[in-house]
Amino acid sequence: MPDFDALREEFITAVTNAADSRELEFLRIEALGKKGKVTELMKGLGTMDPDERKSVGLSLNSIKSDITTAIEKRKIALAKGELQTRLLEEKVDVTLPIRPEQTGRIHPISQTIDEVVAILGEMGLQVVEGPDIEDDWHNFTALNIPPDHPARQEHDTFYLPGEADSERMVLRTHTSPVQIRTMQHGTPPFRIIAPGRTYRCDYDATHSPMFHQVEGLVIDQGTHMGHLKGCLIEFCRAFFDVDNLPVRFRPSYFPFTEPSAEVDIGCTREGGQFRIGHGEEWLEILGCGMVNPKVLENCGIASSEYQGFAFGMGIERLAMLKYGIPDLRTFYETDLRWLKHYGFSALDVPSLVGGLNR
Ligand code: DAH
Repeated sequence: MPDFDALREEFITAVTNAADSRELEFLRIEALGKKGKVTELMKGLGTMDPDERKSVGLSLNSIKSDITTAIEKRKIALAKGELQTRLLEEKVDVTLPIRPEQTGRIHPISQTIDEVVAILGEMGLQVVEGPDIEDDWHNFTALNIPPDHPARQEHDTFYLPGEADSERMVLRTHTSPVQIRTMQHGTPPFRIIAPGRTYRCDYDATHSPMFHQVEGLVIDQGTHMGHLKGCLIEFCRAFFDVDNLPVRFRPSYFPFTEPSAEVDIGCTREGGQFRIGHGEEWLEILGCGMVNPKVLENCGIASSEYQGFAFGMGIERLAMLKYGIPDLRTFYETDLRWLKHYGFSALDVPSLVGGLNR
């Protein structure tokens, strides 16, 4: 029969003197772990006769409970001591410089969309959105784009699998279907802008399969070409922040507008230097026109009563011109060095305030 008092004494003394929590845990395992001394003795209870089992069992249980209590007590004392030591040892050097803070940058696409929205918003146009996945009717047919139009061809448009030709879904090739959705589901007048992602099968220094456009639509009873010109001239001057920026409307063709125009701004490219607002050359920046009466009728708007204008422009192109970004593909390469260079801090509102206040 082991000496229970000696066993108890041995562990209680060791536990009370344990130097740290590691040693304490070691002692707990030695006494009460799966193969601990007390545990092993308890395993022997099964082979004893009932009287002996009762008395030995009682002693072992009391030893177990005493050791457990001693461990808990020591644990608390050690924790206090360890905290004291840490408080004494660890000092905060308040004279050290703070760690540099990592601040994010606003991507030039977001920045440019914000600028366009701010300028046109100021003129009373409201932002609306439409789906990236469109049906053939909204993306083409309702916009008066005929079935044999080159834009519908497989090599320009991303078609989704399934369904017959006229019911195939597409990744919208422009933001113009948002015009259709707006007119279909609302009642005139309309004054909206629709920024968003657009998709075409194209990839080079000035094209990416996913890019961004902003669409504009203004429909009312007395809206005429003068409003179109005023709105877009003002927009170009505010966006590029150039007073008296030369702006030219060049006749063009889009199935959804009649008449249609492309808008050019004045620039020079002398000695490899590109400057907006000076010189003899012209640079195309957007498409526009008076909404084709057929499009109004397709949306259930009486073209005898309402008319208006629409425009569409590529955000990447605007950003590249304004901020001197040479390759469109770099917008989507997620290179942090690029973003640090071309991105904007949340507090910068470059030139926009000047542009708006004029
Ligand atoms: N949807 C045309 C494109 O993607 C851009 C455009 C031109 C939109 C003229 C318009 C517009 O609303 O009136 O090339």
